[in-house]
Amino acid sequence: MQIRATELSPEQTYKLLTGVVVPRPIAWISTLGERGVVNLAPFSCFTFVSSKPPMVGISIGRKAGARKDTAHNIHASGEFVVNIGDDTMIDAIHMSAVEHPPEVSEVDLLGLALHPSDSIAPPCLRDVPVSLECRLHSIIPFGLTGAEFVVGEVLVFHIRDGLLRDGKIDTAGLRPVCRLGGPNYAGLGPIITKRAIGQTPKAVMGDAPRP
Ligand SMILES: Cc1cc2nc3c(=O)[nH]c(=O)nc-3n(C[C@H](O)[C@H](O)[C@H](O)COP(=O)(O)O)c2cc1C
Repeated sequence: MQIRATELSPEQTYKLLTGVVVPRPIAWISTLGERGVVNLAPFSCFTFVSSKPPMVGISIGRKAGARKDTAHNIHASGEFVVNIGDDTMIDAIHMSAVEHPPEVSEVDLLGLALHPSDSIAPPCLRDVPVSLECRLHSIIPFGLTGAEFVVGEVLVFHIRDGLLRDGKIDTAGLRPVCRLGGPNYAGLGPIITKRAIGQTPKAVMGDAPRP
């Protein structure tokens, strides 16, 4: 079977893509609204885009053309926290996607605890294994529905004690959760370890033109 992309509505395309691009990690983003309300929402169109400086990217769509609270707050403040929840937090992650008005804090509704960030105003979630304090780097609009790819520079990594060994995250200890197509989630399956393939190290490039 083949489907021409031009024949699909935005909703049909979204369903296809979210079923094909799996599993997706979840950025559980806390931001601060203008009136000091802490907003929290999950975003699974999430990846990292640079390692020096560290940068992560999230695609944030719109609700019938209007910016979601997360995108609105990031535009206004230039700051956000990417929290990484674990597989004990799937209910809270899911429920934090309910559309509440900006004056309602999902953190309060879900009874989650916060702790202050070191370098930015939006707080981190206290009980997650990892939080990344991010300063906005750039926002790139894509497509006809107003989606925006938000790139943030990671200023501070918060990592739960015991999760980092020899500079690497203990994946099993992290107990990551991912999003699949539809309202479906999964935890970590079996880990298959292969012999590492040597890679040429990354270098910090100067200002010379880049081919
Ligand atoms: C697990 C999960 C992942 C999601 N991923 C995205 C995403 O990548 N991009 C997006 O725009 N919305 C995503 N959503 C929907 C938003 O979380 C939802 O629109 C939410 O109401 C936005 O909240 P806000 O208005 O407080 O920012 C996801 C929802 C869930 C449950």
